[in-house]
Amino acid sequence: MFYPQEIIEEIRIQNDIVDVVSQYVNLKQRGNTYKGLCPFHNEKTPSFSVSSEKQIYHCFACGEGGNVYRFVMKMENIDFVETVKMLAGRVNLELPETNYSEEAKKQFQLKESIYEIHKTAARFYYQTLIGEGGAGTLAYLSKRGITQKTLKKFGLGFSPEKRTSLFQHLKANHYTTQAIVKSGLVIEDQKSGNYYDRFFKRLMFPIFDIQGRVIAFGGRIMAEGEPKYLNSSDTVLFDKGKNLYGLNYARVSKNKSVIIVEGYMDVLALYQAGFTNVCAALGTAFTQEHARILRKYFEETIILFDSDAAGEKAALRAIPFLVNAGLRVKVLQVKDAKDPDEFVKAFGAEAFGNLLATADNYIAFQVNCIRKRYNIQNIDEKVLLSEEVKKLLAGISSQVEREIYIKEIAANLGIEPQAFKNDVEKLDQEQEQAQVASRLKKETLNKPSFNKSSFNKTTLSKVAVQNPSKSLGKAQVCILYYIVTHTKFYPVIKKYIAPTDFLEESFVHVANVIFSFIEKNQAIYPAELMNYFEGDQEQKLIAEIFSFVPQSEDQNLLQKEIEDNIKVVKTAQVNHAIEVAKKENDMMKITTLIDSRNKINNIFIKFI
Ligand code: UTP
Ligand code: MN
Repeated sequence: MFYPQEIIEEIRIQNDIVDVVSQYVNLKQRGNTYKGLCPFHNEKTPSFSVSSEKQIYHCFACGEGGNVYRFVMKMENIDFVETVKMLAGRVNLELPETNYSEEAKKQFQLKESIYEIHKTAARFYYQTLIGEGGAGTLAYLSKRGITQKTLKKFGLGFSPEKRTSLFQHLKANHYTTQAIVKSGLVIEDQKSGNYYDRFFKRLMFPIFDIQGRVIAFGGRIMAEGEPKYLNSSDTVLFDKGKNLYGLNYARVSKNKSVIIVEGYMDVLALYQAGFTNVCAALGTAFTQEHARILRKYFEETIILFDSDAAGEKAALRAIPFLVNAGLRVKVLQVKDAKDPDEFVKAFGAEAFGNLLATADNYIAFQVNCIRKRYNIQNIDEKVLLSEEVKKLLAGISSQVEREIYIKEIAANLGIEPQAFKNDVEKLDQEQEQAQVASRLKKETLNKPSFNKSSFNKTTLSKVAVQNPSKSLGKAQVCILYYIVTHTKFYPVIKKYIAPTDFLEESFVHVANVIFSFIEKNQAIYPAELMNYFEGDQEQKLIAEIFSFVPQSEDQNLLQKEIEDNIKVVKTAQVNHAIEVAKKENDMMKITTLIDSRNKINNIFIKFI
């Protein structure tokens, strides 16, 4: 980490989480907590809660949670150091510039150097393209209709045939071999110890980040061979699940709508035709992260993939991510051409503009895809089809939109619209109820969910131990919750359970820190605790622990709850050990373990 823990903590304290979150989410106060619609998934009823007292957020529906740092990192899609700077700036706190550790400084310099290497490489490839070696590729580009201007705008290049060209060029520019290899543009051959360029004899497409820095390359083969397109591997600069080709230009297009295409050439062709609001996911599946990034700059997306089965499948896969991110989603397929690139080349920009205006709402597209799979002449298939479509329509939140589809589809299938509408509405209510029920279950209302008088000790213990796999996570959260909130129980609890007894790595990590805090008599602040972890899992876990609502504050019930949950965890742990012993055929061990498992039920914890 770059900055000392005290500074990170100071910045966090000064940036009240409720204030910061309110800049992004409309929050309503409810006592000490604030509720709103979760910005990390799409929902109609608020499950997202921010605690002013604990300075954390937690979504009861999607499980996302953390402190103010994590929230800003996720919302702004920036890294931790950038977030620290941003939040420090927000409260006018000056950051020390010199406090970097030696190690951190080295990492920082290495990263800077890898940026420089990419810039140098892009220049090198460009020079090669416009120089002697690039004649063939230049001719190819011109045949494909790419103008000089586009070529320059996108910084296209050519990687020479000789596989040491770039390496030598970079060495001549005094970059260290370590940095060159870390850039991924040069590969070390383990056997011979020689270095080879990753890209050779390819048309090069530099991939830019949103600030316009080159962070990776894509290369199209110019000779025969496979693969047609080769991308950079993931590096410290580049994560393909988070980058979109062309976004650096698309985001300044002043358009609220963005066109998503499949390939590099599609981006270039549309850009050149004047549709500068275009980008592509780089040959990888479209991710939720991609969708969230797009939502930062746009309100609407038009998916325009290749007009083949693969393109259709990819579109169906991308839709939920985009809808989830809160974008309006349309889908379009080019006609009489394989992809948008071919379309503009064949029919021109005006035709493309007209085509764009015909993009279908994603629901219509999904319905069409479903419809294609069934033969409506056949009664059984027609029923199956209408069932599938109903599910789809029940999910639409806009009444008007839903009505339109119901009418159109009913007419199309030859069914009575009112009956169809009733069915859809019934299904919607069922889905809604199921959602509310599961949320209530997760939230565990502040009052005991059972009648105290009819409660007896055995019922709770039976329920808990009977269904360990389901409640194991909850049991572990519950134990940690009581440890941090009722520290007086800690000396007793630790006799029965140690951090290493927890199952799953993230629990062990978090338990370790919590136990050591209490051992040292240090006060625990949830939001501060999160500073200790960089991992996603741990941060979410801490938010969950501190958002846990106990079944009861009644001392007896509460102690019983702890005891039962310790049993659940211990049982799961022994079961795990038994599985391992079984694999090793260790009969002795299995017998001992089964014996110890039987004893777990006899555990009776005395709290006082
Ligand atoms: P296509 O093969 O459809 O590309 O792949 P294209 O743009 O039509 O290719 P040409 O140049 O016009 O012949 C679409 C995208 O899928 C990724 C690339 O991002 C490409 O632009 N891809 C494709 C790969 O990553 N690897 C491959 O081998 C092929
Ligand atoms: Mn193409």
